Amino acid sequence: MIIKSLELRNFRNYEGGEVFFDERLNLVCGENGQGKTNLIEAINFLSMAKSFRTRREAELLREGEASFFVKGVFEKGGAPYTVEIVWSASGPHGAGVRKFVVNGAERSSVVDLLGGIYTIVFSPEDLAVVKGGPDVRRRFLDREIILLRPLYYHKLKKYRGILKSRNALLKQDAPSPELLDVYDEQLAEAGAAVMEERVSYIAALAEESAESVKQISDGRDALSVSYSPSFSGLSRESCKEDLQKNRDRDLFLHATETGPHRDDMALTLNGRDLRIYGSQGQQRTAALSLRLAERALIKRETGEDAILLLDDVMSELDAGRQERILSVFRDNQVFVTTAEVPDYPAGANVFTVTEGKISF
Ligand SMILES: Nc1ncnc2c1ncn2[C@@H]1O[C@H](COP(=O)(O)OP(=O)(O)OP(=O)(O)O)[C@@H](O)[C@H]1O
Ligand SMILES: [Mg+2]
Repeated sequence: MIIKSLELRNFRNYEGGEVFFDERLNLVCGENGQGKTNLIEAINFLSMAKSFRTRREAELLREGEASFFVKGVFEKGGAPYTVEIVWSASGPHGAGVRKFVVNGAERSSVVDLLGGIYTIVFSPEDLAVVKGGPDVRRRFLDREIILLRPLYYHKLKKYRGILKSRNALLKQDAPSPELLDVYDEQLAEAGAAVMEERVSYIAALAEESAESVKQISDGRDALSVSYSPSFSGLSRESCKEDLQKNRDRDLFLHATETGPHRDDMALTLNGRDLRIYGSQGQQRTAALSLRLAERALIKRETGEDAILLLDDVMSELDAGRQERILSVFRDNQVFVTTAEVPDYPAGANVFTVTEGKISF
């Protein structure tokens, strides 16, 4: 799939305008702070209805404005496919109101939008998936699974809702044991459903990322990715047992301390914990491989070539590596942002961004 054009209104530092893209390579150049990442963010926003940089949509709204609009015209399976998202600052507690329109028809839920367009962002912050805490890896995982299997969004939401209720109960002075039993039952069921999706996704991710690391390191490094669930088993029964076994501790701490909201993913390189023992370059390679694996999984499960958004990652690589990466991506539409004036390959479409305005 490719994005043919993008229209923005009041998104970040873009006041308005429409831009047409090349179906292969698009270089987005410009000095620091001009709006290159904002452009990548807008394209990714059309596929996830979420920013990869912030959870607060209000930050995406151009200062002083009341609503923003993003529209992408894509080509998917040879047919046009359009996505429009309007976000208005009104709504309860300033949470904002979102409106999704796909191919001209308004969609009631974000789930109807997810899985339509696939984009993958590569950014220097990907390193945090390898180096950061479990929460970063959980976020990575959840986004990936939602993109490929949108119904996972409901499963996750259901689990979070029950968790919130159970935690609220644990904060009361004398929580009812009977009500806790009910929540344990529900949480175990919802938790097992979330874990089932994570197990299957991580298995596929492990296979693909191991292959990528092997290729990039020329066979020197072996990456292993595995699931580290917080519960001791995957079945509903064993989740419930865990919750009951840990009930006294949860009552003492006034919070649920075990469950998928505490899961992690273990990354080892050549048998050692990558987070602790990996060199800078090895960690970088692993982070890149996770994204490459994502690209391969999208292709494998949907037959689609995702749109690749490379934000500030090329400038860290030498010319030879840049060329090899771009040649690997020859089937995908690629966007590359850079603050340097590059020696760009022939045929690339070059844009310059200056203060939220795009020129050729
Ligand atoms: N909600 C907003 N309203 C108006 N301007 C905004 C908003 N959010 C961000 N900006 C502005 O957008 C600019 C940053 O854009 P962006 O992150 O795309 O820069 P960049 O071109 O990627 O720069 P760099 O090369 O440093 O990564 C900043 O000038 C910032 O002040
Ligand atoms: Mg940037």
